[in-house]
Amino acid sequence: MRGESKAIYFFNIKCYADVSITAKTNKYFIHSVLRVVIIYNNYSKKILGINKNMISAEIKGYGSYLPERIVTNFELQETLDTNDDWIVERTGIKQRHIAAKGELTSDLGAKAASAALAKAGLKPEDIDLLILATTTPDDTMPSTATKIQHKIGMKKGAAFDINAACAGFVYALTIANNFIRSGSAKRVLVVGAETYSRIIDWNDRSTAILFGDGAAAFVLEGMENSEKGILFSKLYSDGEYHSILNTTGGVSSTGNAGFLTMHGKEVFRHAVAKMSDAVLEGLAATGLANADIDWVIPHQANVRILQAVGKKLNIGDDRLISTVVNHANTSAASIPLAFSVAYDNGKLKSGQLLAIPALGAGLTWGACIIRL
Ligand SMILES: CC(C)(COP(=O)(O)OP(=O)(O)OC[C@H]1O[C@@H](n2cnc3c(N)ncnc32)[C@H](O)[C@@H]1OP(=O)(O)O)[C@@H](O)C(=O)NCCC(=O)NCCS
Repeated sequence: MRGESKAIYFFNIKCYADVSITAKTNKYFIHSVLRVVIIYNNYSKKILGINKNMISAEIKGYGSYLPERIVTNFELQETLDTNDDWIVERTGIKQRHIAAKGELTSDLGAKAASAALAKAGLKPEDIDLLILATTTPDDTMPSTATKIQHKIGMKKGAAFDINAACAGFVYALTIANNFIRSGSAKRVLVVGAETYSRIIDWNDRSTAILFGDGAAAFVLEGMENSEKGILFSKLYSDGEYHSILNTTGGVSSTGNAGFLTMHGKEVFRHAVAKMSDAVLEGLAATGLANADIDWVIPHQANVRILQAVGKKLNIGDDRLISTVVNHANTSAASIPLAFSVAYDNGKLKSGQLLAIPALGAGLTWGACIIRL
């Protein structure tokens, strides 16, 4: 039993005794019950700080970073048996950014994190927790999050990595939301940063065309009595499907990172069904309708997946944020990257309702419903 639960337990016993004693006269009984309720509410709110429903995790800043080098489909067709027409028709992708030699996931992530802090008007010392979603860490250890923490000059709080592949940002947002709502953290820097170019087999045309490098970040802050912020978040995974999207190696299995392999059609099918179901679940849980959604910002895997999700949700292209054409699939960075571009373009505005679904290797998936 945690300390605060223990306190509530003993407090309840005391309240129960109070009620029994004063219940001898009806007049005092009602008075006592009301008194108990009021005291209990104040006690839990003010002393224990556990009135979780009153704290909402709002997006206070966002930022992104893309490596300088752009690789177009035309450049890929010089070395691969593929062509621009095929790639655009099947995926909607025209180009991707690729990290320079020696440019690491932590470099990308630190730049995105600093940009998000600047946008929020905050300093590294204002942050309690840094969560990095990545599948492509700099090293096996320490965590890349701690390297980003150091690179941005954050000397306090805690930092850790999470790996949920392309669903990583929705996982990280959900974790951050729970830290904030429980009162364990006031401000959380949530970063998605990837260098998939390091786990791509550049001779495999079925995967090499799909991915890119990049990073983006949100600053979340806990606000009381707010109608904005993360209204809903839910995570899922099913390891039965781990081999439809995985790498050919890893630390414990082969001793090296391996290359990404994928059963494209199967992943496609799961992505459409699971991302749209997760949003529908979020709408049902929040009592909202798909007409209330201003924008769907799905994980940016493939424009055909995005459109199929939109179709299942009855949301047209005019309410779907898609940046995959310029960035390809940047895995855990793709959602905050698309968000950053859309906000900078003036599409996203305060008060709007966003649905953010994602699916990645694992399989892992989930969705957040957010009021901006
Ligand atoms: C990968 C993907 C674009 C392939 O599209 P598809 O319509 O399923 O194509 P197929 O795999 O059936 O391949 C069709 C043909 O194109 C060929 N092909 C595959 N990649 C090609 C390429 N880059 N260029 C040209 N031809 C290609 C295949 O070899 C196949 O040829 P065949 O008919 O002679 O055997 C698609 O399945 C997809 O986007 N899947 C989801 C991938 C994804 O987003 N993963 C990450 C999720 S987090």
